[in-house]
Amino acid sequence: MEMKACNFVLFSCLVVVSFLVSSSSAQTCLSQTFPNNMQYANCTDLPVLNSYLHWTYNQSDGTVEIAFRRTNSTSSQWSAWGINPSGPRMVGTQALVALVNSSGVAQAFTTSIDSFAPSMQQTDLSFPVPSLSATFDNNEITIFAVLIIPQNLTSTSQVWQEGEVSNGQIQPHSTSGDNVQSTASINFLTGQ
Ligand SMILES: *[C@@H]1O[C@H](CO)[C@@H](O)[C@H](O)[C@H]1NC(C)=O
Ligand SMILES: *[C@@H]1O[C@H](CO)[C@@H](O)[C@H](O)[C@H]1NC(C)=O
Ligand SMILES: *[C@@H]1O[C@H](CO)[C@@H](O)[C@H](O)[C@H]1NC(C)=O
Ligand SMILES: *[C@@H]1O[C@H](CO)[C@@H](O)[C@H](O)[C@H]1NC(C)=O
Ligand SMILES: *[C@@H]1O[C@H](CO)[C@@H](O)[C@H](O)[C@H]1NC(C)=O
Repeated sequence: MEMKACNFVLFSCLVVVSFLVSSSSAQTCLSQTFPNNMQYANCTDLPVLNSYLHWTYNQSDGTVEIAFRRTNSTSSQWSAWGINPSGPRMVGTQALVALVNSSGVAQAFTTSIDSFAPSMQQTDLSFPVPSLSATFDNNEITIFAVLIIPQNLTSTSQVWQEGEVSNGQIQPHSTSGDNVQSTASINFLTGQ
């Protein structure tokens, strides 16, 4: 009897331990899927704003295939992701922006964030972006892009953001809470 109780306690103990270990290391991004069975070599759960970055880096030609996804979005929100060669901050970000436009279709464009009150109009980035699109499904917005980055941007800063769209116009994002925590470093080569 005692042995059984002990084994049972040990068993539940092991179950709890393995659950804690697996839940602390489980990345949400690993279970995310894409149209046409598109797969990426690396992904990371970004720490705030329900955001996830997936990418495949090809060192021989400097291309990075990106899928940036933000869950729990709405059709009246814009989302953006970019890299900032000048550091983990807003100004300088080479951004990809997506929103659901007045046709009800997800649309993406590039813009270089040159000030704290950026125009959010389409501009070229400091590197080529040969492919760019977005989807909006099940309250998830996903930006798909191919970037061609110089060698010195394989380890850099990434910045992401979200805000409201009103009458087709991008509104400024919140300047508190998670919206001012949304930066991280990224190394496209090592996945760290
Ligand atoms: C990486 O790029 C090179 C040059 O474009 C290409 O030959 C190669 O197939 C690419 N590698 C992968 C894994 O796509
Ligand atoms: C989803 O978004 C709504 C409204 O923006 C917010 O109230 C809610 O807390 C969010 N849920 C999660 C899980 O982030
Ligand atoms: C990266 O190298 C390019 C030249 O290839 C240079 O113009 C740019 O300033 C460099 N960027 C950084 C962040 O070092
Ligand atoms: C909405 O976006 C789609 C996809 O980019 C585009 O074809 C369409 O012209 C856009 N509609 C408007 C009103 O801008
Ligand atoms: C990122 O992808 C590369 C190429 O498939 C792989 O070797 C590496 O282990 C991945 N890194 C992480 C942290 O997943």
